[in-house]
Amino acid sequence: MPMAEELRISNTSKVAMYEELMPQIKSLIAGEPNLIANLANIAGALKQTFNLWWVGFYLVDKQELVLGPFQGPIACTRIGYNKGVCGTAWANAKTILVPNVEEFPGHIACSAASKSEIVVPIIKDNTIFGVLDCDSEFLNHFDETDRIYLEQLCDLIAKIIS
Ligand code: SME
Repeated sequence: MPMAEELRISNTSKVAMYEELMPQIKSLIAGEPNLIANLANIAGALKQTFNLWWVGFYLVDKQELVLGPFQGPIACTRIGYNKGVCGTAWANAKTILVPNVEEFPGHIACSAASKSEIVVPIIKDNTIFGVLDCDSEFLNHFDETDRIYLEQLCDLIAKIIS
């Protein structure tokens, strides 16, 4: 079993970091058929690269989102449809950027330390499989660059769901 290589990311601009990260994520997951293992490594890669507070997946299970692979402190296990940022991104099938979580009605505070958030749905064959949730301890942490690259990443994830 080969050892995973270390990520190589130069600490430059956010765009440059995503440009370096994306091909490394692709090669990281290329040889591994297990989805949970791949989601776990993707969460780790994002947390490590961008030094985020919490990064993880919530996966659709019947009428709820259920906590999947993540990196960071323990989190809420289940989120209802249209509840919180994650459940709203699921219901709308759209990415939600939240510059200040206190200003998002119904935001679910799994951790009081989280100040801003981005949630991106993973859409496979017009069906929501789950969402990617990234949380920061800082206000206004996420922007259009994150949206663009994290949507690309979720498209990539959709392709490896069988
Ligand atoms: N804040 C999210 C809940 C998940 S945690 O942040 C990890 C929400 O409002 O859906």
